[in-house]
Amino acid sequence: MLVTQYPVFQRFWYPVLPMADLADGPQSFTLLGQPLVLWLTEDGTPAALKDRCCHRSAKLSMGIVQNGGVRCPYHGWAYDREGTCTHVPQLDPGAAIPKTYRVESFQCQERYGYVWVCLSPDPLRPLPEIPEAADPNNRLIPQFYEPWHCSGLRVMENSFDNAHFSIVHAASFGVTEQPKPAKSEIVPLELGLKVYATVPVVNPPIQQQILNIPDSLTVREVESTWYVPFSRTLKITYPNGLMHLIFTAATPVSDSTSQIVQFCVRNDTEADASAASIIAFDRQVVDEDKLVLESTDYNTPVDVTVEQHMPSDQPGIVMRRQLAALIKAHETDLLPA
Ligand code: FES
Ligand SMILES: [Fe+2]
Repeated sequence: MLVTQYPVFQRFWYPVLPMADLADGPQSFTLLGQPLVLWLTEDGTPAALKDRCCHRSAKLSMGIVQNGGVRCPYHGWAYDREGTCTHVPQLDPGAAIPKTYRVESFQCQERYGYVWVCLSPDPLRPLPEIPEAADPNNRLIPQFYEPWHCSGLRVMENSFDNAHFSIVHAASFGVTEQPKPAKSEIVPLELGLKVYATVPVVNPPIQQQILNIPDSLTVREVESTWYVPFSRTLKITYPNGLMHLIFTAATPVSDSTSQIVQFCVRNDTEADASAASIIAFDRQVVDEDKLVLESTDYNTPVDVTVEQHMPSDQPGIVMRRQLAALIKAHETDLLPA
């Protein structure tokens, strides 16, 4: 499956940039092959347009923010958040600006400290609702923002795959002596999936420190949620009541590249465990996954007969079936010009 070939993937919200990055002026991001310019408007909300001036095609992301709009770096035409050209410095003041001077705009909003974009005016699903992230008693720690050279589907499947811990994560939390995956309860949703499992893990010293537990062996209660198509939450609860919830999106940049956007939500404080140590541990785990995922085919089949499976692959099989059905249901949708 090549994500840019199916217009249905344009009908979902994706996190594209940390909000903080917009403080430095207009930024570029390519979503599903579509180059975007993103900037902060006067009321502090983000805006997204096609990154291509309608005059001579210069990249608007190389321009500046002016009066809440974005000004082209070439001849200085300025656009508002709807993509309407509001200023042409070369025209007499007060002269009418032709209505054809416009650039395509996209829906854009802030959530969880990130800018989210939907390329379609008609999204199939709202943004993922994460009540734990909205709870002011919890802290949200931005973790990773980086491109991976693999498909979003591989990243999602890997998140629900209990069978790789003892191999890929042997150096972090995997129990080498227990390659048999923990049993899990799989609950397919209409669009999405929930998986519940109790997973035995090893806690290396850094993990014992950030978990505030002396045990080197313990269990994690795991509740994983898949948000179609390429986001998930992994809510881990330890026996001492500590919650470590990870949100990960594999935002599709192109067929072969996904932007990993990850933050975590915890119900403890900086005094209990520093954000830096939490990020350091998750960095190790994420790097272990990245190494192997970047070795996989990005043209990931949704036809379940193409690759071989074992019983613990059931969540990935549910994902492939749902995506195949989604593609089929929308196969007559047109790709925009
Ligand atoms: S190319 Fe943008 S104003 Fe000329
Ligand atoms: Fe993993």
